[in-house]
Amino acid sequence: MSDNNGENVTENTNENPSSSIDTVMQETRLFPPTDSFLEGCEIGSLDAYEALYDRAKADPVAFWEDLARNELHWFEDFHTTLNWNVPNAEWFVGGKTNVSYNCLDRNLENNADKTAIIWEGEPGDVRTFTYRELHSEVSRLANAFKKAGVEQGDVVSIYMPMVPELAFAMLACARIGAVHSVIFAGFSAESIADRNNDASAKVQLTADGAYRRGKVLELKKIVDEALEKSPTVETCIVLARTDTAVEMREGRDLWWHDLLEQVDDDCPATPLDSEAPLFILYTSGSTGKPKGIKHTTAGYNLYAKKSFEWVFDIRDDDIFWCTADCGWITGHTYVAYGPLCAGATIVMFEGAPNYPAEDRFWELIEKHKITILYTAPTAIRAFIKWGDHHVDKHDLSSLRLLGTVGEGINPEAWMWYHHKIGGARCPIVDTWWQTETGGIMMSPLPGAIATKPGSCTKPLPGILPAILDDSGAPVRENQGGKLVLTHPWPGMLRGIWGDDERFQEAYWDMFPGLYLAGDNARCDEDGYYWIMGRIDDVINVSGHRLSTIEIESALVSHEKVAEAAAVGRKDDLKGQAIAVFVTLIDSEPSDELKQELRMHVRKEIGALAQPDDIRFTNALPKTRSGKIMRRLLKDIAEGNENLGDTTTLEDYTVLTQLRADDES
Ligand code: WTA
Repeated sequence: MSDNNGENVTENTNENPSSSIDTVMQETRLFPPTDSFLEGCEIGSLDAYEALYDRAKADPVAFWEDLARNELHWFEDFHTTLNWNVPNAEWFVGGKTNVSYNCLDRNLENNADKTAIIWEGEPGDVRTFTYRELHSEVSRLANAFKKAGVEQGDVVSIYMPMVPELAFAMLACARIGAVHSVIFAGFSAESIADRNNDASAKVQLTADGAYRRGKVLELKKIVDEALEKSPTVETCIVLARTDTAVEMREGRDLWWHDLLEQVDDDCPATPLDSEAPLFILYTSGSTGKPKGIKHTTAGYNLYAKKSFEWVFDIRDDDIFWCTADCGWITGHTYVAYGPLCAGATIVMFEGAPNYPAEDRFWELIEKHKITILYTAPTAIRAFIKWGDHHVDKHDLSSLRLLGTVGEGINPEAWMWYHHKIGGARCPIVDTWWQTETGGIMMSPLPGAIATKPGSCTKPLPGILPAILDDSGAPVRENQGGKLVLTHPWPGMLRGIWGDDERFQEAYWDMFPGLYLAGDNARCDEDGYYWIMGRIDDVINVSGHRLSTIEIESALVSHEKVAEAAAVGRKDDLKGQAIAVFVTLIDSEPSDELKQELRMHVRKEIGALAQPDDIRFTNALPKTRSGKIMRRLLKDIAEGNENLGDTTTLEDYTVLTQLRADDES
């Protein structure tokens, strides 16, 4: 492999692809790592990856057992590596460890004065914490939680801006065996209450406000509304971030800083069972009710650490920036747990990529000399739209590796990222995984696997995927099918909080004993995987999962709506946009009503679920068995028919006749 500034590329390409699947089918460019990247690489050749992969595949249980003993601290050793009774896995049974100990105390040995977190607030304020300081902050906060009545096994609901205290809070919960449920601070009061009730949360953490593009979002106010409907929550701890006036309810609400003043920072980590719950994270499935995905202690911790080290080829002097919010799984695993457990230096950023200007990300990279950037394709598409001049203002030469997550990346965006941001010298790791998988499942190991734009390439060591047709038979090379994982792995979910039946049904019923990921995929002649999108009613808006049924339920809860259907339509920026079709009860369609419905969904779920297009229809097209014909609606949504008239009621049922055959 030569280092001619990255252009060591086999190009044989269609430059102007139109449909993502076709594009993907024809994508044959191959990008091997450059020599400069390979210097000092831990896994620096395809042979090295294959040797590791084959060793893990030959005996996955022994492979993980070795790693667990070497990588984690054990207060008590485990006696059984894996108990596997489909669908329930227990890893490292009998052992006692603590995630916060592994992230903090262990780093006091060699990394005490190394910077753990460089945090930048939206207004530009910067705070940094060494591992020693982080250890102290987290220990003190853990004591404060105890003081506020938090006990082992209690669920702590977290609704906060991306401030260091959010990471402290997660680690402080982990330290004392409390279970955190982080709710992204864009969700509505209704959504918080639903999640609090489902998890029986006992304590709520929030802040007075959050900065959002120069304005203050009043988080405490939203939480007050949520807590009206969250009877299990006894205490609310409030961080002062924006100095916004808030109402503190006597007997329930406490100031974060008041609590900290009452405690010291001596709080030894509680030895916890390997399978003690670490967190719940809600994500959308194919029904209206979000699923509380449960992750536990030791297996998740090991998988977060190892996947982080493998995929990001992490070195001691790296400055790693994952741009995700801690409200998503990416923020859990690759802002907090993976990097901190690996003793890395992370950047945490509170703000938006376009505030105060569209060059904020590039400014941060230059300022903090970031070496690894891990972000979402939707952000990359926005940067392309905003224009290269924002990038050109900044020196990005500190970067050595780039990553993407959350959805597939179209080859044009990949090429822009590669050239414009990576200077053609940085490998791009396109990482496929899910809330349920705990960590990255498929991704290039950047020193070992040449990349192809749009492919997440190959599985990580110890991960055994397959692609099956509906009968459960493996499909041929390059044929699409359902992606499954054939062997348990330590980072896998341990269930849906309080709903064993749904856990079984959603992931294990279709192919008994195999984990159904819910994505279609194909594998090409080189053993590279290509994700082809969801098989269920989940749409992916800006890298975030939303269930169409959740949006429909929100719409139908409006007094004027009789019935609603939501579909994802292609969108250049967001990946998918939300198009809804609505039938009304005795009301006239109008632009005002559209706006009212948008606001209603916003209130019910949150801004991220707000429909992009609303169309009124006299009736929804249905199959004879009463199923809404989503494919037809999707075609209509993408065809932009009748967009000129924004309020007219249409009757799409006539189209039903024409299409009845191919939908049922
Ligand atoms: C999609 C995010 C293509 C996929 C970590 C998956 C991707 C869902 C990729 C999980 C990728 C995630 N290429 N599709 N690299 N990464 N997805 O739970 O459909 O928010 O099932 O986890 O996002 O979304 P989740």
